[in-house]
Amino acid sequence: MTKLTLSSFVNNRKLLLEQKLTEYVRQLEVPTQLQEAMIYSLEAGGKRLRPMLLFATVEGFGQDFKESMPVACAIEMIHTYSLIHDDLPAMDNDDLRRGKPTNHKVFGEATAILAGDALLTYAFQVIATMSETFVDSSQKLRLIVELTKAAGPEGMVGGQAADMEGENKQLTLTELEYIHHHKTGDLLSYSIISGAILAKASDKDVENLRGFAKHLGLAFQIKDDILDIEGSEESLGKPVGSDMNNEKSTYPKLLGIEGAKNKLDDHIIKSKEYLYNVDIDKEKLELLVDYIMYRDR
Ligand code: IPE
Ligand code: IPE
Ligand code: MG
Ligand code: MG
Ligand code: MG
Repeated sequence: MTKLTLSSFVNNRKLLLEQKLTEYVRQLEVPTQLQEAMIYSLEAGGKRLRPMLLFATVEGFGQDFKESMPVACAIEMIHTYSLIHDDLPAMDNDDLRRGKPTNHKVFGEATAILAGDALLTYAFQVIATMSETFVDSSQKLRLIVELTKAAGPEGMVGGQAADMEGENKQLTLTELEYIHHHKTGDLLSYSIISGAILAKASDKDVENLRGFAKHLGLAFQIKDDILDIEGSEESLGKPVGSDMNNEKSTYPKLLGIEGAKNKLDDHIIKSKEYLYNVDIDKEKLELLVDYIMYRDR
């Protein structure tokens, strides 16, 4: 049997996801400027890592990835909203995202804020109105409850708030871990946990997947911090040095670049230890773990 490669896994899944994302927003009857702003950031590209993690999880449990498409789109909508708001002048004040001018640079701040709000809210509509052919209402409710936690004040929003409060300060490792877990880790974890919910995984598997996802989410943001120093604007499609300009607390700032890389290794190893205990076909998830570790964008 030929070995699966990352590109052969990602290719058609990414294409179908992107078609569906556009379709969801095109079918809305909303003011044109708002719709264009939503589509602009969704179509700007992006790695689509969170949907790929969801697909790899459901497929690992033997399901067709297409059945999880509405959840994958909802996650990517929330992630995209978080980037639009993260780039605003009042937050990180960045001009480039996914290789294009940031949303507020093109549409103005008011529309960018509203496009973010719209993507956030619509994501919940997409899950709540999902056909019940492949999910029952109790799974749907679980999907929604977990997403409110991951994206809300105890999740991503809380993490972003702590990130802003941490500017110009020397934080402890525990404080920095809190920020990374919540601003980035929680939605990334949800991509995996929602897959487990859709696949009706056992409680034991869900518990181990939570451990896996938690370390992976932290690793992902540590790598993001490292790339903000060592990466190139060309491949990242966003400015480098943004963290330094905003005097952010990051892993490299606290531990040095080598210390940050060691932490990244530690969390990748720990994530794999948890994954090892899950009763799932691990091939696709393992490809994505390696990608997170070695990526340059
Ligand atoms: C960037 O996320 C923001 C973080 C949470 C670190 P990604 O690196 O996944 O961004 P895209 O989706 O590929 O643009
Ligand atoms: C952003 O973290 C996290 C969220 C958008 C929730 P960063 O501010 O480090 O992300 P980038 O580097 O701008 O993509
Ligand atoms: Mg930020
Ligand atoms: Mg930022
Ligand atoms: Mg960053």
